[in-house]
Amino acid sequence: MKILIATEKPFAGVAVEGMKKVIDEAGAELVLLEKYTDRQQLLDAVADVDALIIRSDKVDADVIGAGKNLKIVVRAGAGYDNVDLEAATAAGVSVQNTPGQNSNAVAELVFGLATFMARNMFNGTSGWELKGKTLGIQAFGQVGRNVARIARGYEMNISAIDPYCPDDVMLDAGVTPVHSVEELYATNRVVSIHIPATPETRESIGYELVTRMPKGGLLINTARKEVIDEAGLMQALTDRPDLKYAADVAPARAAEFEAMFPGRVFFTPKKMGAQTAEANINAGIAAARQVIDFLTTGADRFRVNK
Ligand code: 3PG
Repeated sequence: MKILIATEKPFAGVAVEGMKKVIDEAGAELVLLEKYTDRQQLLDAVADVDALIIRSDKVDADVIGAGKNLKIVVRAGAGYDNVDLEAATAAGVSVQNTPGQNSNAVAELVFGLATFMARNMFNGTSGWELKGKTLGIQAFGQVGRNVARIARGYEMNISAIDPYCPDDVMLDAGVTPVHSVEELYATNRVVSIHIPATPETRESIGYELVTRMPKGGLLINTARKEVIDEAGLMQALTDRPDLKYAADVAPARAAEFEAMFPGRVFFTPKKMGAQTAEANINAGIAAARQVIDFLTTGADRFRVNK
C-alpha cells in the first residue's frame, strides 16, 4: 500500500510524524509531497499510489485520472469543495473528509478576528467588547458549535441558523434558533459564516443580507470566499460605513477591498483557520487512520461521494 500526502500548505512536522507512524505500523509506504508549486508534481506523484491525503489541494478529474491505482482520497479537514466528486465516483474512488478534527482551531480564529476588528485593529483607539453583544452563527455544524461554546465564555447572546440542525441541539447549547437568514443578519451585531461552498451557497451573501446588519455590524468569514457575492459586499460596505468585514478566506478582489475600506476590512494572507499543530495532528492522523481502515477493511463511514 502506497499513500501520498500531498499538501501545498504542509501540516506541522509533528502531525506528519504522527501520520507516518500510523502508516508505518500498517506496513504501508508513505510518499510525501509538500509545498509543491507545479501541478505536474502532483500528477506525477499520484500515478502509482493507492491513497491520497490532501488539505485544500485541488483534486480534479486530471488528478483522479492520473491516479491509476487510486482507491481513496481523504481531505484532512472539513470542506471538500476542492475535490471533483463526480470524477472520483466515476473512477470508483472513495472521497472522505475528517469532520470536526480541525473545528476548534477555526472557531478560535473567529474570536481572534472578532477582537481584532472590534478593537479597531489594535490601532490605539477605543473599540468595543464582545460581552453582551449579539452573535449570529450561520450554520451550526462542527465549527459553528465550537464558536457557540467559546461565545458563551464571552457572555454573548447567541443565535444560529441551520436548516439541517434540529432546534433542540441549538437550545441545548444555549443558542436561539433562527429560521430565516434575513433575520439572522438583521438581529446580530456579529455574524460568523460557517456554510460550505456548494452550488446553492455560492455568492449567496451579498448586499441584500449584509445591509440588514445592525449599526456597527461585523461580518466574519472563516468558511469559503465563494459564498460571498463580492460586488454586493463591496456596495454594502460603501453604503454602510459602519460595517466591517474580516475573512480568513480573502476575496478574489482583496486588494480593491483593502484600498476602498481601510481599517474596516482584514484578510489573513493565507487561510490559517486550521493552521495549528493540534488541528494538523487531529485531522492528519484521522486521515491516515481512515486511509488504512479503508484499504484494509473497506470502512467508509466518512465517505462524501456516492
Ligand atoms: C477545512 O475545510 O477543513 C478548512 O477550511 C481548513 O482548510 P486547510 O486544510 O486548507 O487549512
